[in-house]
Amino acid sequence: MSAKYSIAVIGGDGTGPEVVREGIKVLEVTAEKFNFDLDFNHYDIGGERYLKTGEILPDSVLEDLRKHDAIYLGAIGHPSVAPGILEKGILLRMRFELDQYVNLRPVKLYPNVETPIKDKSLEDIDFVVVRENTEGFYVGSGGFFKKDTPDEVAIQESINTRKGVERLLRYSFDLARNRGSRKKLTLCGKTNVLTYAWDLWMRTFKELSSEYPDVETDYAHVDAICMWFVKNPEWFDVIATDNMFGDIITDLGAMIQGGMGIAAGGNINPDGVSMFEPIGGSAPKYTGKNVINPLACILAGSIMLDTLGQTEAARAIEASVSETLSRDIKRLEAGQMGHGTAEVGDLVCNKIA
Ligand code: IPM
Ligand code: MN
Repeated sequence: MSAKYSIAVIGGDGTGPEVVREGIKVLEVTAEKFNFDLDFNHYDIGGERYLKTGEILPDSVLEDLRKHDAIYLGAIGHPSVAPGILEKGILLRMRFELDQYVNLRPVKLYPNVETPIKDKSLEDIDFVVVRENTEGFYVGSGGFFKKDTPDEVAIQESINTRKGVERLLRYSFDLARNRGSRKKLTLCGKTNVLTYAWDLWMRTFKELSSEYPDVETDYAHVDAICMWFVKNPEWFDVIATDNMFGDIITDLGAMIQGGMGIAAGGNINPDGVSMFEPIGGSAPKYTGKNVINPLACILAGSIMLDTLGQTEAARAIEASVSETLSRDIKRLEAGQMGHGTAEVGDLVCNKIA
């Protein structure tokens, strides 16, 4: 009997549903070819629903999501909704409640994609950031004291647990061991200033490294890593970091790989339900115009299949995206691809079938 996976789909806002449509097209062709079944259930979550009904992510939907093998997300973010409501209420809530403690963000330069970094080629830009996804500043620990008075105090705390740090680092060591021949793990932190949090991270890192003698270890401060991403991206293989630093350095990573049109990631709970998404936003001004680039969302589908254990199928999608980029796509920006959104989806599908 062939494997069967149930996928919860949240198209979300703006161009989210359009890119997800192409992603599903590609996933269906791939499943057919590699002989497994995908069953998609669509959930109407996002800015429109919130504006109509006041619901953000109803508990009943969250409970439903738990019953799936994975979640495939387009984009969340609506121009008529104040910033923070949907991001916190949907995206961050899913990450936390489903305990998706790994935010996996590959930074890879594909053929024929322009990087702003002079003299760097495909071999030079190919690494993965493993961002902790359930702790740090994102926990929302803190508060106000004497709010709205001249003596106001605002406290925002970064929470780092031994368990949370250790499981993230273990995932990172395993990835470095299995990803390729370089087997190098760089810890990205701020040990010179944040001496409690990063002491815990560093101690744990050193302890675990003795279990992985085959993995080369390295450390870089977060500010310095921003410099090295631009100057020497070829130094990196796998990078482990906390939630806040990971948020920041992966935007920089997305830029050196050619922009948000190509950057994808996974919010992974290795023992639970994971969620896969293009990193870019909902790009509301392009909604319904068939101009948005679906490749990041298609690549998120590839990461999803890889996580589900369909490694060959995942590689086939990536290879097809790679070939489509080298042969058919002019530029990554919306409206400049030389094809519409749906046609780019077809081009990727054709090469797989
Ligand atoms: C990301 C986003 C989110 C984050 C926002 C939308 C809450 O920037 O996925 O990187 O900060 O994690
Ligand atoms: Mn971000």
